[in-house]
Order: sequence, then C-alpha cells, then structure tokens
Amino acid sequence: MYLGLDLGTSGLRAVLMAANGTVCAVAEQGYDVAHPFAGWSEQDPASWLRACGAAVDELRAEAGASWAALKGVGLSGQMHGAVLLDAHGEVLRPCILWNDTRAAKEAAALDADPDFRALSGNIVFPGFTAPKLAWVAKHEPYIFSKLAKVLLPKDYLRFWLTGELATDMSDAAGTSWLDVGKRAWSETLLTKSGMRLDQMPPLLEGSAQAGNLSAARLGEWGLNGPITVAAGGADNAAAACGTGCVSEGQGFVSLGTSGVLLAARNAYAPAPETAVHTFCHALPNRWYQMGVILSATDALNWLSHTCGQTPEALSALTGAALTAPSSVTFLPYLSGERTPHNDATIRGAFIGLDIATDQAELTRALMQGVAFALRDSLEALRSTGANLERLLAIGGGAQSEYWLKVLATVLNLPLDLPRTGELGAALGAARLGLIAATGAAPEAIITPPNIARSIMPDPAFTAAYEAAYQRYRALYPALKPFSGAMP
Ligand code: XUL
Repeated sequence: MYLGLDLGTSGLRAVLMAANGTVCAVAEQGYDVAHPFAGWSEQDPASWLRACGAAVDELRAEAGASWAALKGVGLSGQMHGAVLLDAHGEVLRPCILWNDTRAAKEAAALDADPDFRALSGNIVFPGFTAPKLAWVAKHEPYIFSKLAKVLLPKDYLRFWLTGELATDMSDAAGTSWLDVGKRAWSETLLTKSGMRLDQMPPLLEGSAQAGNLSAARLGEWGLNGPITVAAGGADNAAAACGTGCVSEGQGFVSLGTSGVLLAARNAYAPAPETAVHTFCHALPNRWYQMGVILSATDALNWLSHTCGQTPEALSALTGAALTAPSSVTFLPYLSGERTPHNDATIRGAFIGLDIATDQAELTRALMQGVAFALRDSLEALRSTGANLERLLAIGGGAQSEYWLKVLATVLNLPLDLPRTGELGAALGAARLGLIAATGAAPEAIITPPNIARSIMPDPAFTAAYEAAYQRYRALYPALKPFSGAMP
C-alpha cells in the first residue's frame, strides 16, 4: 500500500493506493484561507498538520487491515507558499500563499534583473517565493532576522512526517531561486534576493527517497517502520504524474482553486515573455509548461459565498446542456492574473448586467469567463510550440457537466475525463511514494488513466464562443484603468 498526501489550498486529501495502482481509500479534510487585506492570502501551517492527522485517521478507518501494509508515502502540495522557520524549526508567521499578491513591487524589482528570467526560466510573479521573502525582509525585519529555513507547504508537512528538511525540483522551480535548466539552487538568484544557500532545504528529484516516517508518526498511526517518504512534487507536477502527462503532446486542464493548462515538454525550452510557467517535472530530466489563472473554482467559491449558496447549489442552476454564450461577461481576475497578463493589480468584473440577470446567469457567465481565461493560457502555450490535440480534464470544477462543455467548446479541444480524475495530484503523490519505496521504473508506474468518457467541442456553438472569446479579450485593456490603487 502507498499513501498519497495532497496539501491543497482548501483542504488536504489522502489517497491509499495498492501496488497495482488501484485506489483503496480516500479521505479529505478542509481548512480556511485568511484574506486579512486585499491581495493577501495566508494559512496557518498548523492547520495542515491537523488536517493531515484527521485525514489519515479517516483513511485508516476506511482501509481496515490493508493500512498495516503501508510501505511508502508521497507528497504533493500547493506551490510557491513560504513557510518560514527559525533555528528551532518553529514557524515564524502564517504561510503566504501562491495567490497572495502583496509582493507585487518586490516581484517587479527582481523581474527587472535579467538574471531572474535567464536562470529561473520564468517571470518573477508576485505569488512566487522569492518576492515574498523580499517583502518580509522589508515589512517584518524582526521575523526576517530570525529566518533559518524557507520551506514550501508540502515540505513543511514532510518535516512533521519525517523530521527531515528537503524539497523536490518541481516545487523548487516555483521559488525563483532555482536554475530550472540545471536543476540546482542558483547562488546568483539567492544572493540577489538577499537570501543564503543555507536557508534552502536540500534538493531531490520527486521520485527519490527523502526519509522515513518518524517514530512519533509510526506510533500515532499504528504502523511498523521503516516507511519511505518520497520527495514528491508540486501539485501540478504531481497531477501530471497522476494522469501520466510526461511526454510531448500530453496535457491536462485543471479546474481547481487555480486554473491550470499544462503541457508536458520533452526538453527545457523556457519562454518567460509569454507568461507561461516552465518548471521541472517531478521525474528526473523532465520539464513541463503551463498557463496559470489565479481564480477558477475560487471564483465560483467567491460567488457562492456572496450569494449565500454552496458552490454545488450554484452549479446546479446552470443545467447540463450547453447554452449560447451569456450576454454577461465575467473576467475572473479576483486575485489579479498570471498568464497571460502578469498583472497583480487587475481585478475582476461582470460586464453587461441586466435587470433580469439572476444567479443562474451569473454562474454561467462565471464558468464561461474562466474558460476564456484558460483559452488565453492555451494560446500562450501554443506560442511556445506546445502541440495539444486533446486534454485530460481534472479538478473539482470538472464535476460540472456544463463547465466542461463550455470549456471544450471554448478551447475547441476534446476533454477526456479520467475515472480517477478528481484524485490527480494525490494519486501522483502515491505513485511517487511507490517509486521511491520500490525503485520501480517511473514509466511503468506513471501511466495515462482509463478514460471514463470524453466531452467534445460542440460545433453548433464554436463560432459563437469564438466571438464571445474575442469580446472577452477586448475587455482586459478596457478594465485596466479601473483596477489597482484608486486615488
Ligand atoms: C501554480 C500555482 C497554483 C498552485 C495551486 O504556479 O500557483 O496552481 O500550485 O495549488
């Protein structure tokens, strides 16, 4: 048995997988995100550990006797978050998350130095880790002075699980401190960010062993050791492992808190000017590229919260049948945007509201707006040479039939639904745990999923959605003067 732990933005998911790849049990525990000021997004790392303990208890109850056969653990997690530890391993402040844009000025300053794009292969986005540390150095110098180590979210979970400090290439690639082509910390980028190499954890490939479960965890979880813990991967790399996206032509679209359109690439070919992200894969000598939008299901969560509904209740209002594009256009820039705009100050909008616009129409417009934003990412990826003829569709939003039909039609690509789609990253983590524990060949384990069914673009609506997409594109420049700091 192998355990995959995916530390997401809204909750932690645990998956127990048998050696033949079958999922035996799944558990999930939620936690909150705090937005104390506009553009801020923080979480208490202690809430992840509580959720992990509770999810494992739930999983054990579901798994019964097979739990005792656990041999390996793999980790996946939300990217870019900064967990700051002092010399005693104590957390110094809440984790600043991937969708936090407070460090926009610091990001722009680092990004203006050509070494960052040249060595890290990416724009220094405000949500990446390096600008966050520059912000802490400036605004919280007493915390910065105590800083001994910076960990990414899943690596803090590892520290609790094993007592070891480590990270993997795919997560390290999102810090702006990694030389992504060489797969090594860049002393140049660290120094230019006011950081030191000794503040970084050791680097491993995602499928490598990164320690064993500690005696404390073995005792709490009723296990006998040793149990290997793999280095694991960033959530998007782990989802690519869970869905077998490792080679040219393979890719997925994920409707998670963020929206991601990912293409596996055979070689390292960064194109930062497109605002596409180019990161190390969780397997040795592999990379991938992706467009990232900051609010996908997060936008639906926001609307449901605002309307006093659950996201499920709002989704149910759309019906399953594809409809003509809404006369209301939604721009999903609730936390700013990464691909293609790299704009931390832009904010979202509903345009074209009518006295007759109801919650169902707002929800349809919202789902369409997210699909248009992902189309922007597809166009950006295509400009880098990525060739995608179909995509796997994963993430919580993929449970909405209507959203999938809109997305397939806006992207004009077939979307394949994996049977285990909603488990992408947690399953990928379990697979990495298996490889680390057994030494199995990655290509034997990281395989494409069985497809439950495919959603085809609807030719009756492609032209109308293409026209609606062009209207959507025209709105970003028009919206720009209304966003950002107001007088
Ligand atoms: C990727 C990114 C998000 C988070 C979400 O660059 O910021 O997809 O990983 O968990």
